[in-house]
Amino acid sequence: MFEGESVRLRSLELSDVPLIMKHWNNINLRKELGPVVPHSSNEREMWVRQTWKEREQRTAFVFAIETRKDRYFLGHCALKNVRWINRSAIVSIAIYNKSDRGKGYGTDALKVLLRVGFDFLNLHRIALNVFHTNKQALHVYEKIGFKKVGELRETDFVDGKYVNDVIMDMLEEDYRQLYHTKLAKNCLRG
Ligand SMILES: CC(C)(COP(=O)(O)OP(=O)(O)OC[C@H]1O[C@@H](n2cnc3c(N)ncnc32)[C@H](O)[C@@H]1OP(=O)(O)O)[C@@H](O)C(=O)NCCC(=O)NCCS
Repeated sequence: MFEGESVRLRSLELSDVPLIMKHWNNINLRKELGPVVPHSSNEREMWVRQTWKEREQRTAFVFAIETRKDRYFLGHCALKNVRWINRSAIVSIAIYNKSDRGKGYGTDALKVLLRVGFDFLNLHRIALNVFHTNKQALHVYEKIGFKKVGELRETDFVDGKYVNDVIMDMLEEDYRQLYHTKLAKNCLRG
């Protein structure tokens, strides 16, 4: 179990499915994440089971995000598309309930995820894709130290408009320069 200042990353459980379903079909959340189609609780349950398989196969590491203080379920984050020859992975994150955003949880979870990726999985490059319209996520990723490396034009059709996919990444050397001493002290207890 990995802990930051305010959040804990842990395995997803089937008991999370009702909490996931509270917000997963909210269009404002889903339109930042990819195809906007409704999901049933069975589909979310299959997804939770899939995350266990992927972890076993070491192709993706998906975590529930909860508050350290009272184990309140916030959302999920992941290192997915793990490529062991290249030692690379792709980040994804979602704080499901709008009212839980803007409180520092996403920043904290991402910092823990970086530490998991670089210090425990021995990754070399962690990248991400974000729609150019998602200003909050872009701000958070830049603040954490991800660098914009390019922008693919009009990759996704979302809510009546084509949006660009911004590609950002962080190399292990960037991470060591930016964080290592500080994170080693503050992140990851338990
Ligand atoms: C992106 C996301 C993970 C960030 O998590 P969060 O807990 O809301 O982020 P934090 O509270 O740690 O930080 C929010 C920051 O964004 C800033 N912000 C808020 N709205 C903003 C906007 N419209 N434009 C720019 N910055 C904005 C805040 O000021 C804060 O920055 P600061 O710490 O420098 O003051 C979360 O908002 C989320 O899950 N959004 C929906 C799903 C999503 O977009 N996922 C990412 C897909 S690539």
